[in-house]
Amino acid sequence: MKLTLVSGLVDSVIADILFITIFEGSLSIKENKAILCLNPLIQQQILNFRQVYPQCVNYGEYNLIHLFGEFNVKAVFLIGAGKSADCTRDRLGSLFGSAVRAVHKFMVKTILLYANLSYTFNEIAAVQTIVEGMVLGSYKFDIYKSKKNGKIYQIFLAGVKAESIETMETALHQTQILTDSVNLCRDLINHPACYITPAFMAERAQNFRKYKKFAVDIFEETAIQEFGMNAFLAVAKGSDQSPRLITIHYQGNPDSKDLLAYVGKGITFDSGGISLKSSINMSDMKTDMAGAAAVLYAMRAIGKLQPKINIIAVLPCCENMPSGHAVRPSDVVKSLDGTTIEIDNTDAEGRLVLADAISYAIQFGATKIIDIATLTGACVIALGNTAAGIVSNNDILCQQVLSAASETGEKMWRMPIYEEYKESLHSDIADIKNTGGRAAGMMKAGSFIQHFVKELPWVHLDIAGVAYLKQIRGINPKGATGFGVKTLVQLAMVEQI
Ligand code: BES
Ligand code: MN
Ligand code: ZN
Repeated sequence: MKLTLVSGLVDSVIADILFITIFEGSLSIKENKAILCLNPLIQQQILNFRQVYPQCVNYGEYNLIHLFGEFNVKAVFLIGAGKSADCTRDRLGSLFGSAVRAVHKFMVKTILLYANLSYTFNEIAAVQTIVEGMVLGSYKFDIYKSKKNGKIYQIFLAGVKAESIETMETALHQTQILTDSVNLCRDLINHPACYITPAFMAERAQNFRKYKKFAVDIFEETAIQEFGMNAFLAVAKGSDQSPRLITIHYQGNPDSKDLLAYVGKGITFDSGGISLKSSINMSDMKTDMAGAAAVLYAMRAIGKLQPKINIIAVLPCCENMPSGHAVRPSDVVKSLDGTTIEIDNTDAEGRLVLADAISYAIQFGATKIIDIATLTGACVIALGNTAAGIVSNNDILCQQVLSAASETGEKMWRMPIYEEYKESLHSDIADIKNTGGRAAGMMKAGSFIQHFVKELPWVHLDIAGVAYLKQIRGINPKGATGFGVKTLVQLAMVEQI
């Protein structure tokens, strides 16, 4: 999608459709700058429409007004925005995400939008949010469809003050990097597991070698064995797809010893292994690498934005399959940090690969850890498809993650981590067991991971409910959402973390 900034009159731009936003109440239609500078004949048609259908100002009311006559735009799309006081970033982005989907069916190729709106927050943030909403909202995964939908390829943003064009351009360049990264992340998650193998994930990571201050390393099975990552290997060994450990080291601040680890669960397909899942919704488990994908594409954006921070991304990628080679329930393995683990349920595989990946990050010199994973069905039960669950041992780091998340509009909610959860992981024959019963499943998974983090500041993000949607919602289409990319980038941009 191409974005062009236009300073000056809206009336001079040729486009398929003109987007006009109207608020309830105080901001009357006649005071709306976007309408005032239009051709008087178009103005009249909008005013007439408003007269016969006053509800058109309600939030989420979309109306198409066809224009008859020789105008530069063929139609006006009226976007009801509700009360301006209620206009949060989240709601504004969703409004435009839905708007752009609504005009898809009219074969619209070019959109003209008036940028200078009176929102409760600043103009640049408003425009960034609108553009983000449109780029993310119009995403469609139709690579495997013979018949593809038309794509919107041009948005004109008019009404930008001449003096703010340059700042706006810089801001929109950042938005473009971020939204592209989110959409690429969605692609990787939406592709089926027959293509997105651990080897494929590694190939993608290799592409990031080109970014400044980046070092990408790929470790294959023998190397993983030599390291002693037996918990990771236990999960991988049932599959014919060989595992990969991907690391990306970004040194944006060589003078500092601080090293933030981003650890992402990369199960390219989770059948459950010998503790096989039921067939209902098993196909969703192609998305079980969404944590790794989020880290991977956050690193892409970080590679382009070059913030002053050091990051080590660690992505354990493998497939969880049943076979004669697969790990059994009751098997005991020794993990990288020396802990012996009784594998009670082979479907609790995410925490096993994360345990070794976190130990690897610590050996590498990580001083803080954030892991992100589609880890538990229990998280989906607790928070639904609305928010990611957080478990943390550190109030400061946790607050930093929550603040970054509220900036980006990704909803996250912290859960407690009590001693009792840890006790449920007691094993009669090994140091620890990988499951602790159904109740409080998300926090018990968190406790398991905490064992390997030890005393380091750590935040665990369970994105099982939010990584993948069965229904369109706001800026999120059906399927992968790319959840986490924005917040992980935002955290890196804050830099003092
Ligand atoms: N990948 C799943 C969790 C999941 C469930 C993600 C639903 C997305 C949607 C994970 O590996 C898993 O199977 N977890 C088990 C753990 C249990 C065996 C302790 C679960 O949640 O049932
Ligand atoms: Mn599983
Ligand atoms: Zn899983």
